[in-house]
Amino acid sequence: MKKTTLSLVVGLWAVLLVATAAAQDVDLTVTDKDLETEESMWNLYMDLADVESRFEAFKANARHVNEFNKKEGMTYRLGLNQFSDMTFEEFAGKFTGGRTGSIAGDLRDGAVTYCKPPAVGYVPPSWNWTKYGVVTPVKNQLTCGSCWAFSVAAAVESINMIRTGNLLTLSEQQILDCSGAGDCNGGYPYDAFDYVIKTGISLDNRGNPPYYPPYENQKQKCRFDPN
Ligand SMILES: *[C@@H]1O[C@H](CO)[C@@H](O)[C@H](O)[C@H]1NC(C)=O
Repeated sequence: MKKTTLSLVVGLWAVLLVATAAAQDVDLTVTDKDLETEESMWNLYMDLADVESRFEAFKANARHVNEFNKKEGMTYRLGLNQFSDMTFEEFAGKFTGGRTGSIAGDLRDGAVTYCKPPAVGYVPPSWNWTKYGVVTPVKNQLTCGSCWAFSVAAAVESINMIRTGNLLTLSEQQILDCSGAGDCNGGYPYDAFDYVIKTGISLDNRGNPPYYPPYENQKQKCRFDPN
């Protein structure tokens, strides 16, 4: 986040505290004057937004980031992003919709048998697939709880690259629309894999017809055409 935006937010927040203390009843009417300038629109928005608790969450996250980055020997660093004014619970509620098991039931109830992985020789202590060029760039599920669809598309993209040498971008939107494995409130990767195995999966359009239309941040009716 840019410094200027931040100090503006903090400044407005201080102003708003005074304002809301005076008028606890939020006025829900909109006038021409409210819509005149960016600033009047901002004030209108701030009257409704839950700024105080957002700011509390933001402060806690900023402190966490700063403290974490002072630790020695960490293999990664933290930073602020568009999620930094959400609490962990809010973030988890909105963006972690993956369900274990399958629609048919819990996999541990004998629905499948797990195979013991075969013994292999030397296993390296770490392995970074990104370095081997088999991982597509980071995508954004936006505000739809479709992580289950993104995880399946990403896994298939990488295994396809490892097996065939083609790094293709596959359609999360198709999985979301057509698999029956879930919606924007979460879903079952297991059933989504089943769908991809049985039906196949389109390339992501990314502005490139005739492939599946690009990600839309909501579930639509299935537009997959097997031909
Ligand atoms: C993995 O490799 C990528 C590309 O080289 C790099 O950007 C990333 O930081 C690496 N991740 C870890 C955990 O080392």
